[in-house]
Amino acid sequence: MIPKAELHCHLEGSISPALARELAERNRLDVPIGLIGEGGHYVWKDFLGFLSAYDLVCTTLRTPPDFGDVIYSYLASAARQGAVYVEMSCSPERPATLGMPYNAWLEALEGGIDRARRDFGIEGRIIIICIRHRGPERALSMVRTMVSEPHRYVVGFGMGGDEAQYRPVDFAPAYRLAHDKGFGCTVHAGEVLGPESVWAAINDLPVTRIGHGVRSAEDPRLMAELARRGIVLEVCPGSNVALGIYPDRAAHPLHRLIEAGVPVTLNSDDPPFFHTTLGTEYDEAGLGEPQLRGITHTAIAASFADEGTKQKLLGEIGP
Ligand code: ADE
Ligand code: ZN
Repeated sequence: MIPKAELHCHLEGSISPALARELAERNRLDVPIGLIGEGGHYVWKDFLGFLSAYDLVCTTLRTPPDFGDVIYSYLASAARQGAVYVEMSCSPERPATLGMPYNAWLEALEGGIDRARRDFGIEGRIIIICIRHRGPERALSMVRTMVSEPHRYVVGFGMGGDEAQYRPVDFAPAYRLAHDKGFGCTVHAGEVLGPESVWAAINDLPVTRIGHGVRSAEDPRLMAELARRGIVLEVCPGSNVALGIYPDRAAHPLHRLIEAGVPVTLNSDDPPFFHTTLGTEYDEAGLGEPQLRGITHTAIAASFADEGTKQKLLGEIGP
């Protein structure tokens, strides 16, 4: 099996419908109405509908062990697909709504990561992710918490949510603080909106990676700039096709980005929502083994893990 590494997967977005049912049951909750369709899959129609379905899945989480079990369950499945490293985007929004202390939430995630390492040898790290449409003030207060309560597995800061709301520059104070305190930074851009959104992100935020960024392929000058600056795209083809950004994998710009010299990685984003897995993304990329191994190298090199961990992982995956 080709060794894999993943930089872009959302914690709650990794919850399968079966796990959502189990979480609801253990917390004596009804599965949210309309969330799971007759075929047993999540129901949503478009990007904003997907974000709403995502919020509904979050409501099945109630206790710290719930969060620990979710990360463990995802790391276990990723390890079975050959992953040696996963950086999970985790939003403190749900625990905050529940009144769960930030450090209790992180301890639960840490427990899940440690269990997965012990059982499967996989390494996991956490990116704290804010939600763009909830605004820059929340983002800044989230970063303030992140820097004042450091945790050895929290290595980066990111932003997801509705790309059409606010501008990257509005979040510059939050990103500046995260960057100055040594956290790696990434942001969703060029997923729903076009190249101008990626230009704004790389001009106004201290990011070394872009979540998605695939619509950069519409602007050769932007692709050249990404290549020149070595900004790595966290590409999620299955997600992009499921959300209707491209009609099918053949129309996806992955290969055009690679040809333009843009560093890319392969990721599953929110796998059960998009009927994909990390393994499927590698299998369906239309690339040969040497290129796929190269992508794993790129992912580990661009990860926000400490240098020692990166070197150890690079040694593990071989040439
Ligand atoms: N949150 C979870 N998945 C996302 C995506 N694909 N785009 C923006 N925000 C997200
Ligand atoms: Zn995402």
